[in-house]
Amino acid sequence: MAEEFFQQLIDCMKREAKRHPGHLVTEETLRAFMAAGNGASARNESGKTDAPPPPKPVRSEAVPGESRPAIPPSVPPAPAPAPECASSAGKQPETLEELREIVLQCQKCRLAPTRHSVVFGEGNPHARLMFVGEGPGEQEDLQGRPFVGPAGQLLDRMILAMQFTREEVYIANVVKCRPPHNRNPEPEEADACRGYLARQIELIQPEVIVVLGAVAARFLLQRREGITRLRGHWLGYNGIPVMPTFHPSYLLRDPSGKRLAWSDLQQVMKVFGKVYRPASR
Ligand code: URA
Repeated sequence: MAEEFFQQLIDCMKREAKRHPGHLVTEETLRAFMAAGNGASARNESGKTDAPPPPKPVRSEAVPGESRPAIPPSVPPAPAPAPECASSAGKQPETLEELREIVLQCQKCRLAPTRHSVVFGEGNPHARLMFVGEGPGEQEDLQGRPFVGPAGQLLDRMILAMQFTREEVYIANVVKCRPPHNRNPEPEEADACRGYLARQIELIQPEVIVVLGAVAARFLLQRREGITRLRGHWLGYNGIPVMPTFHPSYLLRDPSGKRLAWSDLQQVMKVFGKVYRPASR
């Protein structure tokens, strides 16, 4: 228990050191880390609440006026880097570019022969906010970029509504190659890509992940519930607060879900000190 706590504390300090080189970890950050011990959580199958609490906004010394999320303390520490990420020389990729080179060559699952492109992911390599979707669709496969089809257009609007730009965030998928006819990725296909997404997250070290839709939520969070139960609750991935919400494709099919999705995204905005103010009439 103590070992797990110290590992999380060390992860927290590393994160701070990366974001604010030369600054010591502030007392505020440590206090928020200690305090993040209660709050809303999703229920697991047995009805118990075992999820980490919502992140609490913490004022950053280095960027006055912005707030930063605390790291939920009950989330397990990061696993060792996934071995399947290693290059042919057996070396772990140390940058997103190195990782991209490895992923572009991937032939590990049956999606490789039918893809037009590998959709690695894109955005700010130091993004504070990361979105994880399911897998490329037709447009993404043709263009080699994530979320550029109709669902991507809605995601762009969601990002802007959150007062971020697409360039500020990072967007990735569970699988990097298009499943034929937009079917869900099979578990073996998602597992073949697991190390890639894990390493992407390790390298980017986002402060918050928004996971889009049931497939990505189940995969990343290792939960069996559907998105209707998971959405709106803070969960955790290796110490990083995760907010599951509806997939934009689902919202295009059923716009009545937009109100709930927006309330999920507003929870994320709060963590970054962003408040939605509707235009006055
Ligand atoms: N749906 C996804 O989950 N990802 C994309 O990149 C596009 C559509």
